[in-house]
Amino acid sequence: LTIDWDIEAAEKGGYPHFVIKEINEQPEALRRALTGRSRDGQLHLPELERMEHAGLLNNIQRILVVACGTSYHAGMIAKYAIEKWARIPVETITAAEFRYCDPIVGPETLCIAVTQSGETADTLVGIRQAREHGAPVIAVTNIVSSAITRLADAVLYLQAGPEIGVVATKTFVSSVAVLYMLGLYLGQSRDRIHEDQMREFLTSLDQLPDQIQRILDQANSEGDIIEPLAKSMATVNSIMFIGRGVGYPTALEGALKLKEISYIHAEGFPAGELKHGSIALLDPATPLIGIATTSHVYEKVVSNIQEVRARDAHIIVVATEGDENIRQHANDIMYVPATLEVFSPLLASVPLQLFAYHVAVARGCNVDQPRNLAKSVTVE
Ligand code: AGP
Repeated sequence: LTIDWDIEAAEKGGYPHFVIKEINEQPEALRRALTGRSRDGQLHLPELERMEHAGLLNNIQRILVVACGTSYHAGMIAKYAIEKWARIPVETITAAEFRYCDPIVGPETLCIAVTQSGETADTLVGIRQAREHGAPVIAVTNIVSSAITRLADAVLYLQAGPEIGVVATKTFVSSVAVLYMLGLYLGQSRDRIHEDQMREFLTSLDQLPDQIQRILDQANSEGDIIEPLAKSMATVNSIMFIGRGVGYPTALEGALKLKEISYIHAEGFPAGELKHGSIALLDPATPLIGIATTSHVYEKVVSNIQEVRARDAHIIVVATEGDENIRQHANDIMYVPATLEVFSPLLASVPLQLFAYHVAVARGCNVDQPRNLAKSVTVE
């Protein structure tokens, strides 16, 4: 008796590609990111104790998040969360620009390096420069003992497990979750988040793995729209993504995933910016994906979607379950469970990842190893 078996197929655990396996591993990855850190309504980040004792976090006046690609989008989401909770000004800067912009950094600037691989050359060079100016550094990474860990005063590991697909999926949700916890930590240490609020935030965070599981179960069930919708979009030339607030980096990440693995031109825009030029690109052949989950800017996003609909574009919306109003503004809707606005990117990103994956598969692309891309970009 012989059995056809190869190690790669075994590692894919029954999935056709690593990417879809890793998308489906996100609930577990997120649970691991939260494990030990969110406990009994309290936040525990012992990794930061040494910095705290050394007084490195006492005089922080501003924060710079330095990252590239998907990690940069995670950093953009972190800006909203940290500014909201800790009221410290945050700038998220793409690492390749940071190192050449003669940055104003010093001991009062906390630098947060977000790099799942821990080896991205642009991020390493930028952070090395920040250190030379005396900036304290916190690294957020998935890889133990990676280069970034040697440049940091403290390391927050994602604990996401190995990610083989070149595109970041589970490390994205894990990075965002860890950055949320860092934001909550900074808010608490500045007395801006009280015990009962912390309990409420952590309860919502703890619900996210199950909520992502629900999105995945729905997507895997018969009659779900994501796969057929993606197949119907496989021949378009261009897709636009829009969002506001935390929906904006979500739109950017949705667009990046799509272009990386399907090679379809995709752009993300802040929804309100569209009318200042980019709306000229839209025509009936250019679908638009709007991020319109429940938020304080929901009405504004809907009105931006209406502007686009008037140009006869096909409208796909990511919306919150129970939102019936959105039906009149969209051709297709990908629903996600309700959560706090600040946490919504972690749910809204999942249907966008699935959409990108199914478009790419329908186009016959190599989804695990897209052309021209590497898992760690170790050159500047
Ligand atoms: C993500 O899908 C991309 N492969 C890419 O943008 C990546 O996020 C970027 O190169 C940064 O990588 P890092 O997180 O390992 O630093």
